Amino acid sequence: MRGVLFLLISACAADGAAKPPLAKGRKEMLAACRSCHPLNVIELRRFDREDWDSVLRKMTSLGAKIRNREALLDYLVAAYGEKKRP
Ligand code: HEC
Repeated sequence: MRGVLFLLISACAADGAAKPPLAKGRKEMLAACRSCHPLNVIELRRFDREDWDSVLRKMTSLGAKIRNREALLDYLVAAYGEKKRP
């Protein structure tokens, strides 16, 4: 019984550990990407990492201020990556 409980707790902890970086990336998106266009401009796209990287470069050249680029890129690929396409 104790063993099962321990397993459950560590499984939850492992899950929790995977989340904060993506949450950070999402926060960055909400902070950096909403001032010029609605978020659905982003949410309707499906790009791989390389393409999201060039989108971020383009947005930076247009004036976007990105503080946490790596976290944002991780989040974009995880949430709107090419593999998610049905
Ligand atoms: C300074 C204003 C500005 C900010 C901030 C901004 N964008 Fe954009 N974004 C634009 C403009 C202007 C376009 C249309 C560009 C075009 O069609 O050539 C655009 C278009 C896009 C597109 C459509 C694809 C494309 O290349 O046309 C995506 C995806 C995108 N933005 C993502 C983002 C993301 C992610 C962020 C946050 C890092 C962001 N944008 C922040 C100005 C901005």
